[in-house]
Amino acid sequence: MPDDNNNTGCLVVIFGASGDLTKRKLVPALYHLWDNGMLPSNIAIMGVSRTKYSDDDWREELHGFSPGSYDADKWADFKERIHYQASDATKADAWGDIKDRMCALDKQHALGGNVLFYLSVSPQFFEPIINNIGTAEVVVEGRKYCSIDGTKSWQRIVVEKPFGSDPGSAAKLNRTLAGVFDEDAIYRIDHYLGKELVQNMLVLRFANAIFEPLWNQRYVDHIQITASETVDVGTRGSYYDSPSGGAMRDMVQSHLLQVLSVVAMEPPVSMDAADIRTEKIKVFKALRVPKADEVSKIAVRGQYGPGAVNGDPVVGYRDTEGVDPHSQTDTFAAMQFSVDTWRWGGVPFYLRSGKAMGAKKTEIVVYFKPTPHCLFRDKARNAKPNQIVINVQPDEGIRMRFEGKVPGSGLKMKEVVMDFDYVEQWQTEPPDGYATLLHDAIKGDQTLFKHRDEIQSAWDAVQPVLDYWAGNPQDDLPNYSAGTWGPPAADLMMQREGRYWRNG
Ligand SMILES: NC(=O)c1ccc[n+]([C@@H]2O[C@H](COP(=O)([O-])OP(=O)(O)OC[C@H]3O[C@@H](n4cnc5c(N)ncnc54)[C@H](OP(=O)(O)O)[C@@H]3O)[C@@H](O)[C@H]2O)c1
Repeated sequence: MPDDNNNTGCLVVIFGASGDLTKRKLVPALYHLWDNGMLPSNIAIMGVSRTKYSDDDWREELHGFSPGSYDADKWADFKERIHYQASDATKADAWGDIKDRMCALDKQHALGGNVLFYLSVSPQFFEPIINNIGTAEVVVEGRKYCSIDGTKSWQRIVVEKPFGSDPGSAAKLNRTLAGVFDEDAIYRIDHYLGKELVQNMLVLRFANAIFEPLWNQRYVDHIQITASETVDVGTRGSYYDSPSGGAMRDMVQSHLLQVLSVVAMEPPVSMDAADIRTEKIKVFKALRVPKADEVSKIAVRGQYGPGAVNGDPVVGYRDTEGVDPHSQTDTFAAMQFSVDTWRWGGVPFYLRSGKAMGAKKTEIVVYFKPTPHCLFRDKARNAKPNQIVINVQPDEGIRMRFEGKVPGSGLKMKEVVMDFDYVEQWQTEPPDGYATLLHDAIKGDQTLFKHRDEIQSAWDAVQPVLDYWAGNPQDDLPNYSAGTWGPPAADLMMQREGRYWRNG
């Protein structure tokens, strides 16, 4: 049900309305927000893409895609807010119709000229659409774009990933955006930041007294961030096997470095978006940019060959339709990052991500240093390092792993676990990241969105690795079987330092 107290409604204009993301994530997230009273009462959605739908066709298409997501009565009410404009927004001459429709819907739903644009199209269409938004003069902060009546209005834009494919293309996209929108109207989305357990990191660290004193190079040995998928590239071979594809670009440079920034940031002076972003930007600026001759020691690329995931056979990456049989694309990437600050000097951050791996999980593991003196050296085995494991998904929760005494006579040790299980604690599943982020964008809260400086620094930190890989083809690919934990070289990278990935 809409919340009448929050009267800053808007028109959500989704470019790429006929696409997968819109049907699977964006509209269900907006419905969920509306159903939970988290949207203003005056809200409307206008989908834009080339496919020839009427309003009713698109409503049916959305509902038919995941009927289980929608309650029949509530959907009947909600769908009245959903509209569709069949236009190619990349073409300037389509914008007369698009603008007319926006103005008509603004009037029909009394939206006060507020617009949230959402770019849910392939990245090559981002810039043409942004430029057309500029030329159509629908971004007129402070007055209405369709009739100048003195009403205060806002226009914002959400930009999907990938944000560039290297530092140059990211900078160009940022310049194009800046030509039309102010920075405080640009919402570069990273759905990992919408995940509940990533946000919980701020609470864990800054609302508790017991963790923060340990959260530094004095006590932390290293940090691992893993995002492993069991799915292979499936039908998206030609998309993935492009010069801008691969695990390093798709996952490590974007999502995993964002997670790292939340783990590593200093306490902000307040929880305001600007203050949190200031601290995150500092982390990105402190990321060490590797030299070409260091790359083979700190980064590993992998590609899956044939194998089985959960007992189901998986064809090798190079045998997938749309993939070059000699492809060098990384379906697995691991990299050691250094955050050159007083807090983190000497503490490696190991990030890895891969497709067709042994299990699906996203987790952050903080490994602590051993005690200064080992009193229990002779008691069967040495103590294992203490760990704080943040399970981002699945099994959302936080687990502390430490040594305990085995019951009975004698002093035997065993690793034990203190467990905060999200679902057990709160008796509910964590909300979908897209709902959280769309809610924030409509409210005008940029905390969980990426600043342009974060994106540039993230690209700068991985580009030397990508350049080295492009210039040095690897002749042992594929180098891991589908259903395993990646190439042996990734294990060796850790073992050289006396460390091990947490698998399983
Ligand atoms: N799907 C996901 O799970 C997911 C997750 C994270 C991020 N993303 C990002 O979200 C964006 C959309 O992804 P998607 O999976 O929804 O893509 P998609 O299913 O391929 O949809 C792309 C949309 O773009 C439109 N389009 C295609 N060619 C066009 C052209 N020449 N001119 C104008 N519009 C065109 C299509 O509509 P018409 O053909 O009707 O015009 C369609 O609505 C991408 O940037 C992707 O990286 C997707």
